[in-house]
Amino acid sequence: MKGLILSGGKGTRLRPITHTRAKQLVPVANKPVLFYGIEAIRDSGITDIGIVVGDTKDEIIDAVGDGSYFGVKVTYIEQEAPLGLAHAVLVAEDFLAGNPFVMYLGDNLIINGISPLVEEFRRNQYNAQILLAHVPNPSQFGVAELVEGKVVRLEEKPAEPKSDLALVGVYMFDSNVFKAAKSIKPSDRNELEITDSIQWLVDQDFNVQSFVVEGWWKDTGKLEDMLEANRMILDTFETRIEGKICPRSLLEFKVVIQEGAEVENSTIRGPAVIGKYSKVIDSYVGPFTSIYHNTVLENCEIQHSIVLERSRIANIETPIVDSLIGRNVEVTKSRLKPKAYRFMMGDSSKAGIF
Ligand code: G1P
Repeated sequence: MKGLILSGGKGTRLRPITHTRAKQLVPVANKPVLFYGIEAIRDSGITDIGIVVGDTKDEIIDAVGDGSYFGVKVTYIEQEAPLGLAHAVLVAEDFLAGNPFVMYLGDNLIINGISPLVEEFRRNQYNAQILLAHVPNPSQFGVAELVEGKVVRLEEKPAEPKSDLALVGVYMFDSNVFKAAKSIKPSDRNELEITDSIQWLVDQDFNVQSFVVEGWWKDTGKLEDMLEANRMILDTFETRIEGKICPRSLLEFKVVIQEGAEVENSTIRGPAVIGKYSKVIDSYVGPFTSIYHNTVLENCEIQHSIVLERSRIANIETPIVDSLIGRNVEVTKSRLKPKAYRFMMGDSSKAGIF
């Protein structure tokens, strides 16, 4: 079997972070989301992986390279425009060369991996296998309708969903999916939908199996989901100290201090991770917080947040919570008069101030 990861897409729901970076590279618990997908596919025994890339091709290649870091072989496949998930499958037809494959959306995260599901698909040689999860907001996903456990209808982001079973962004197909993708028409949003391709397979009586994922799954396309994913992954961590902790600091519960990081006169209450060469001085880092590499926190309090690399937060009296702070960001106290908030924020930024 081969693997196909889709890593194009614009990440509009995570702007402004995604103005300057691929959404699949935003770190969750200090690891880019995309890396979890590569590892899940590798752990299921698949080492030949194609990654479909779009506008953010260069940074994806920069981060993943030839795949040897993960013990896999990566081939990059260019999709000239984001014309849909089924379009991406067609673009990858030569790479897949008739092999059955697992397709993984690069912003999806399944906490227990996919190995038993890939094994199930391999053993039974279904034409397609889809994963489903109960969600509170089905109209934001592809939605499946089952009758006696069999998939009868799939709809992409329906206004009136027929069930609460969302399509998880991991699919397994044999080569019949190419016929399906070539037979459907673009949707209202002008995309060739994978959801419609699977419906085509169902209508043509191909064997489409579904599994309800009982473990935990997240599409990290939105801030709240990103923070929740961060929370879930941090919770699986064990304490690991590779950096320097000065004696006046306090580390509680599960805390990871990565290589070169320094913690001085601060309290870190886990689960939390402090990235490589970051500094935490006179500060409090609370539960469910990931501070990425080369960041400085000084005289501030932060919890349930993600801070990306090379940012600096200093001398802020009010605790920062539920936040995603981008790269090279500065949040500091100003001594200028008048006493006021001073912003330089990118397009689509959000600030919550009381
Ligand atoms: C895509 C699929 C949708 C699926 C979702 C899972 O939506 O079109 O059917 O439920 O991924 O993450 P998108 O996130 O591209 O809007």
